[in-house]
Amino acid sequence: MLATVLGERQDTPPIWIMRQAGRYLPEYRETRAKAGGFLDLCYNPELATEVTLQPLRRFDLDAAILFSDILVIPDALGQNVRFEVGEGPILEPIGLKGIDGLSRERALEHLAPVLEAVTRIRSALAPEKTLIGFCGSPWTVATYMLNGRSSPDQWVARRFALEHPGAFARLMDVLVETSIDYLVAQFVAGADVVQLFESWALNLDDAAFNTQVIEPNRRIIAGVRRRIPDAPIIGFPRGAAGNLKRYAERTGVNALGLDYATPLDFADSTLPKDLPVQGNLDPLRLVVGGAAMEKRVIEIKEAFANRPHIFNLGHGIVPETPIAHVERLVELVKKG
Ligand code: CP3
Repeated sequence: MLATVLGERQDTPPIWIMRQAGRYLPEYRETRAKAGGFLDLCYNPELATEVTLQPLRRFDLDAAILFSDILVIPDALGQNVRFEVGEGPILEPIGLKGIDGLSRERALEHLAPVLEAVTRIRSALAPEKTLIGFCGSPWTVATYMLNGRSSPDQWVARRFALEHPGAFARLMDVLVETSIDYLVAQFVAGADVVQLFESWALNLDDAAFNTQVIEPNRRIIAGVRRRIPDAPIIGFPRGAAGNLKRYAERTGVNALGLDYATPLDFADSTLPKDLPVQGNLDPLRLVVGGAAMEKRVIEIKEAFANRPHIFNLGHGIVPETPIAHVERLVELVKKG
């Protein structure tokens, strides 16, 4: 998987699954119940290691992804973050004053248990398996910090960015600098690759896309590589659509995650021929299985057969996914 990120085409694409440790697995639900709250699980190195490795015990996946969440960064910066069952994340929305009150000083100390999990996972993992670290991209994290929860159109955050450009830039600066420190620390702790999750790259005009998505992702990648030269980095700008090529060219990512709404022929004809891509099966096809899944898996493999390709979903796996369908998916990708 690491070789593919670095640009080597494989006859059989490596595979991992976004959100591969999660509620569709009974062993995850059991460990999660033992941990108490969701954040308690993220900050427990032993249990976070356990849930990270669970999907690899069941399926022949080529990579493990650190079990954590993109919202540990606002938590580490001092903003109150909670996870309510059935509701997802809830934050105390940050305003103008809150932005100036954020403190980077203790952030890495707060994240030490996550970094310890990275080290434990790397030493427990077979050498040929890649360990993926990650963080949320600044804009996506900012949408949660400003709105307090997921929203269908990120209206509060998009308006804030236009109305208060100075404060918004200060918020992005804090997130960029914290993310650089955090990703460098993940590499030092044992991560082989990191992924930047820009889950809310949609709903932006191209001017906003440049300042809110491309520029902060570019700064993080440049900042990480000043300290870890050639650090392998995957970018996943979900919903980037017509901005995809610009994102790939200007940020400096090694590999580009494609969401499931990206047409296969568009991606292949628009992106540089040697750019590794990752994706992009609709998670719903994995829920339904059968022909709805199988035909599409073959189409995706064929579309990217001539370039480095990492097979993945086009967004995270959902709790209602049958385990047998995941088994079948891995078999199909590996054996055709
Ligand atoms: O991929 C993995 O297995 C690693 C773990 C991982 C989680 N979240 C665990 C998680 C990763 C990489 C993430 C990233 C993440 N978190 C993103 C970006 C990816 C994406 O899906 O777009 C975002 C936007 C978040 C924020 C977040 N965390 C939301 C919106 C939610 C609620 C939605 C949901 O699926 O419940 C979470 C909670 C969360 N993060 C869960 C898991 C396994 C479920 C919580 C639980 O166990 O109760």
